[in-house]
Amino acid sequence: MSEALTEEAPLAAERILELLPDPVLVVRGAPADPAIAYANAAARELFRMELVGAPVGAALRHPAVLEAIDHGGPAEVAFETIGVQPRFWRAFLRPLGERELTLVLRDETDARRTERMRADFLANASHELRTPLASLAGFVETLQTHAKDDPGARDRFLAIMAEQAGRMSRLIDDLLSLSRIELNEHVPPSGEVDLAHVAGDVLDATRPLAVQRGVAVEFAAAPDLPRIAGDHDQLVQVAQNLIDNALKYSARGQAVSVCLEAAPTLEAARAPTREGGVALSLLSPDAGEPAGYAVLRIADRGRGIARQHLPRLAERFYRVEGQKSGGTGLGLAIVKHVVNRHRGGLVVESAEGEGTTFSVYLPAASA
Ligand SMILES: Nc1ncnc2c1ncn2[C@@H]1O[C@H](COP(=O)(O)OP(=O)(O)O)[C@@H](O)[C@H]1O
Ligand SMILES: [Mg+2]
Repeated sequence: MSEALTEEAPLAAERILELLPDPVLVVRGAPADPAIAYANAAARELFRMELVGAPVGAALRHPAVLEAIDHGGPAEVAFETIGVQPRFWRAFLRPLGERELTLVLRDETDARRTERMRADFLANASHELRTPLASLAGFVETLQTHAKDDPGARDRFLAIMAEQAGRMSRLIDDLLSLSRIELNEHVPPSGEVDLAHVAGDVLDATRPLAVQRGVAVEFAAAPDLPRIAGDHDQLVQVAQNLIDNALKYSARGQAVSVCLEAAPTLEAARAPTREGGVALSLLSPDAGEPAGYAVLRIADRGRGIARQHLPRLAERFYRVEGQKSGGTGLGLAIVKHVVNRHRGGLVVESAEGEGTTFSVYLPAASA
C-alpha cells in the first residue's frame, strides 16, 4: 500500500522512498494545522497507525519536533522515544513546497550505545589503572617519610610495590592485546592452524605455573582433529587465558583437562559435556555451514562460577570477586574477540564447587 506523494510525482521516486530504510513523512498545512500527507513503508512500520490525514501531533509528540515543523524551515532535531527500549532519533526537516515539508527520521540508538560503551570503557580502564597507581604512590611517600629508616618495612613495601607495578603492566599488556585484536576483528584470519600445536605450545609455557599451583594437567587430542583457518598467535592467547584461569581457580592437588575434539556439526560442537550445572553460550557464530569444527575444551574441578555471573564473564573487567583475584578481568574478553574473529563460538559450563568447562569451537578450514 502506498499513498500518492503528489499528483505529478514520478513513479520511480515514490518507489524509491518506499524502499528507504529510514522513515520519511511529508507534512502539509503547518503551522495552522499540520497533517501527514505521505508516509513511506518504514514510517508506517514505526508508527503502526493510520498516518495519512492524521495530525502530526498524533504520531510525533515531541515539542521540539512540533515546534520545528511550525517554523517550517530546514532543521535537525534530536529526540528520544520511550518504550520497552528507549530509542534515540534525529529528525531532518526540509521545506518541500508551499506550507509543505519532508521529515526524515534517523535511528541513532546504536551510535549512542557505541558512544556510551566507549565512555564506560575509558572510565573503567582509568579506574583499573588508578588503583595500583594510588597504592604505588602511597608506598613511595611512606618510604620517603615514616618508613625511611625501617629496613623491615622497606622490604615489605617494596614487595607490594613490585606486585602493583606488575599488575599495571599486565593491565596495559591486556589492553593493548584487546585493541590490536579489535582492530582486525573484521578481517578473517588467513593462516592455517593445527590446534594441537597451539595447545602444545601453551602447555609448555604454563607448566611452571601448574607446578607452582600443584595442579596436574591432562592433555588429549583427537586423531581426526581438523585444521582450522586461524591466526596462530591469537589462538595461543585464547588457550593461554583459558588454561591460566583453570590453573588459577583450581585447588592444589586437583587436575585440569585440556582436550581437542572434532565435531561434525554446530550442535555437536556446543553440546554440554558436564552433568548438572548450567551451560551458557557466551558467543555464537553467525550463520554459515563449515565442514565441521575443532573444539578446544578446558575443564577444571575448581570452585566453579555461580550462575548469575555466567552471562557477564566475557565483559571487559568483569571479575567474580572484583579486584581481589589479581587478574585484569580482560582475559575472557580477549578470548571472545579472537573467537569472534575466527567465526567460532564459546560455551561455559559450571557448577559451584564442582568446576568449570570452557569450550571454544572453531570452523574447520575448507579443504
Ligand atoms: N576456570 C574458572 N573457574 C572459576 N572462575 C573463573 C574461571 N575462569 C574465569 N573465572 C571467573 O571469570 C572472571 C573473568 O575471567 P578473566 O576475564 O580471565 O579475568 P581474570 O582471570 O583476569 O580475573 C575471573 O575473575 C573469575 O572470577
Ligand atoms: Mg584470566
